Amino acid sequence: MMQSILKRVAILGMTVMLISYGSAPVLSQDKSLYERLGGYDAIAASVDDFFGRLAGDKLNGKFLATLSDERKKIARQLTVDYICEKSGGPCFYLGRNMKESHQGMGISKADWDASIVQLDATLDKFKVEGQTRTDFVAMVTGLEGDIVDKK
Ligand code: HEM
Repeated sequence: MMQSILKRVAILGMTVMLISYGSAPVLSQDKSLYERLGGYDAIAASVDDFFGRLAGDKLNGKFLATLSDERKKIARQLTVDYICEKSGGPCFYLGRNMKESHQGMGISKADWDASIVQLDATLDKFKVEGQTRTDFVAMVTGLEGDIVDKK
């Protein structure tokens, strides 16, 4: 009898533990960068905004100006997929790596710095702040060595 009560208490305890673990509130630092950025639609909207700014940028506009509209759409979609995958989202990036896709374009350090100014404007617009902004900017600035090929 005693054994059966103990067994029931143990099962009840384990059930309570499992339920409370399963529904424990997720701490913000447990969330992927993808989630903190607001998910797919927020990333896609930010990329659209950034491409628009890059196209209108005094230094960087020339890199997009020679692409066909179709090629621009492909580059835009690949950039969304890239950010989605690298930030921990449910996407598969099927494009080329950053070095292969940008080398030979002649992107200089000055072009790069100007693109980061445009990126900052996009992040301001979408109110990406605090640790999320720091993490995202670190992800992008880590690509400088692959994208810049002219000092
Ligand atoms: C100064 C900054 C940048 C410039 C001027 C630039 C320019 C370009 C251009 C012109 C293309 C089209 C290439 C083509 O279709 O042949 C392209 C492709 C691409 N860019 Fe950038 N880019 C810059 C930074 C970045 C950054 C920071 C990322 C990632 C967050 C990125 C991700 C991509 C991707 C994923 C593609 C498509 C790759 C592929 O075709 O396989 N770019 N970029």
